[in-house]
Amino acid sequence: MNDNILNDIATEYGTPVYVYDTEKIISQYTLLKNSLPQEFGIFYSMKANPLVGICQLFKKLGSCIETASSGELHAALSAGFSPDKIIFTSPGKTYDELEYAVETDIYSINIESLDEAEAINKIAAKIGRVVDISIRINPDFDIAGSGIKMSGVASQFGIDQIHMESVFKELKTLTNLKVIGIHIYTGTQALNAHSIVQSMEQIIQLALETSEKYCFNLRFLNLGGGFGVPYFKDDSTLDMDILRNEFGQVWDKYKDRLSDTQVFVESGRFLMAESGTYLTKVLYRKECKGRKYLVCDGGSNQHASSAFLGRHIRNNFPMHILNKSGYEEPVNVVGPLCTPTDVIGQNVTLPEAVAGDVVAIEKSGAYGITQSPGLFLSHPLPAEVQYYKGKTYILRERWEKEDFMLRQRPLDINLLK
Ligand SMILES: Cc1ncc(COP(=O)(O)O)c(C=O)c1O
Repeated sequence: MNDNILNDIATEYGTPVYVYDTEKIISQYTLLKNSLPQEFGIFYSMKANPLVGICQLFKKLGSCIETASSGELHAALSAGFSPDKIIFTSPGKTYDELEYAVETDIYSINIESLDEAEAINKIAAKIGRVVDISIRINPDFDIAGSGIKMSGVASQFGIDQIHMESVFKELKTLTNLKVIGIHIYTGTQALNAHSIVQSMEQIIQLALETSEKYCFNLRFLNLGGGFGVPYFKDDSTLDMDILRNEFGQVWDKYKDRLSDTQVFVESGRFLMAESGTYLTKVLYRKECKGRKYLVCDGGSNQHASSAFLGRHIRNNFPMHILNKSGYEEPVNVVGPLCTPTDVIGQNVTLPEAVAGDVVAIEKSGAYGITQSPGLFLSHPLPAEVQYYKGKTYILRERWEKEDFMLRQRPLDINLLK
């Protein structure tokens, strides 16, 4: 999407606004699909961007979907996914959520603790069914160089590899459960294809060993992924040729033993991040104690990750001013919140901008609005718009100020009498 298109969208829908480039989503999905053995499936991890319209697009592309709450499960079903294309993974599924997943009869509930297995068993026994589950293992290895490690270290995710013996002993007593698979997710934002291949091979070995040792039919294997995106200046692009070639060789070693297993990867960031742009308008330009500021109509309340929230390293997302070049200056791009943390570009070099100019924050299609503290200071949530072949489609309308009253109740006036 060029600046003229983005500018037209900012004018038509107002700012702040998130824009998603459909062709980029399609090309990322196709790239990932073509970099894996053809029999592999992909789960779209909808936590990256849970818009129903985006989920529908992934369904159309042939993807399955990974959910992490009843809200996501409901959205996945609303997007038209059939239950047998849905998995549910989260360390904190409530009893109600588990009931919903069991009743919906999804492909697999990935258990992360024995207590959770017992809860599912109880629900399944109540309705006289046997429910398919997979075990999310926290293995002893991680994924070298990933942004956030989610295995190999103590965490709330999965069940330790060394506890498998006792887990399978206990699972034998839970007769309304059937173990169909293994799920391992080692980390996110990995940019080194060799590390991803190595981690996927370790996962395959562990899954095979586990199914052989504990005598269950490995129908489902979820290798995770962690496929990363180059956000920052020193980041390299994930080399999909290396992934395809190296993993192809690994797969040749194991594919006969896994001929009855449905093998998947899961991905959110890689599929979505590069398609999205967050547009926020400069309201005021000011200088304070020698530092220049662009005060914008949206900030960390709608794009927390660009404001370094939840990240250890303070580096700026790629950003530019729409249709502006020329003299450049270091500025702080800030949002409208009353907190000094509301900085979405710190000491970033941009062409001299004035009120009315639009800042475009790139690579913002994943973990944007839904990972942000949108209720903080009650600024209406932005519109979210999809662009495809010269046309735009609204995926979520901009909130109105009245929307902040949704489900609130006024104080009972008799309370203080
Ligand atoms: C279990 C699980 N699967 C998938 C994902 C999606 O990861 P990514 O967006 O890096 O592909 C995450 C992210 O934290 C996760 O925890």
